[in-house]
Amino acid sequence: MKIGIMGAMPEKIDSIHALMSDVETIERGGRIYHIGKISGKEVVLVFSRWGKVASATTATSLITEFKIDHLIFTGVAGASNPDLNIGDIVISKCLYQHDMDARPLMPRHEIPLTGITFFKADSILIGKASAAADKLLATLSEKIPVSMLEKFSIRSPKFILGTIATGDQFISDREHTAAIMAEKPETDAVEMEGAAVAQVCSDYGISFVVVRTISDQAGHTSELDFPLFIKEIARLYSEHMVKNMLDEEESITESGACEAAAALGV
Ligand code: ADE
Repeated sequence: MKIGIMGAMPEKIDSIHALMSDVETIERGGRIYHIGKISGKEVVLVFSRWGKVASATTATSLITEFKIDHLIFTGVAGASNPDLNIGDIVISKCLYQHDMDARPLMPRHEIPLTGITFFKADSILIGKASAAADKLLATLSEKIPVSMLEKFSIRSPKFILGTIATGDQFISDREHTAAIMAEKPETDAVEMEGAAVAQVCSDYGISFVVVRTISDQAGHTSELDFPLFIKEIARLYSEHMVKNMLDEEESITESGACEAAAALGV
């Protein structure tokens, strides 16, 4: 069993790389794939690059060339759900592409030739990510200096299982967020890769989960020191989430998704 780990920031790759042993590095298509082990489990770690095409290409290589069985994506996202704050975690239950519009040929948001609008994450991986988030958030002040948490007003961070909207735009104005919410009010967070990676995983029958730390409020926040947030907060979130997920004893295996999570009341 081999687990692909995609990170949406080079800083996150460096932190997760530090957890790895027996590392071999291979370059393909301008991406650097790190093959090795974390907690005795075989992994392939790679920087996704940004946007739907770049991340879908990276995911395709992970699956077809590096033969991964499961995929974990870690990155940051903007919150569209007003109950989410900077430092909260969104674990994907479902993902869709907010900029997909092939009307009048297909319904709004439906991915052509698939009949799919929402890609559902794997329920076992969702469970692992939830346990990992629980563990991280319970001990956050041991992992990140309190002064840094204070700087970003991270006081009692939570995680949710939610709906993630992906598109080739960084959402930085309220009107854009409002337009996305008007069409799909259940959207919790916006980012630029998740549903593209999910589409590739769906095509190849690979189980996946996307884990995003909220870095901004998608046009509703004033100034945020984004590079500092990545370096001091999001990087550590990703490192501990991956470590906690892979530390668990039981193997990561495939199963259903959204409905299973819903049945659990999550
Ligand atoms: N990633 C982090 N914040 C984002 C935003 N506001 N829009 C798109 N992707 C993001």
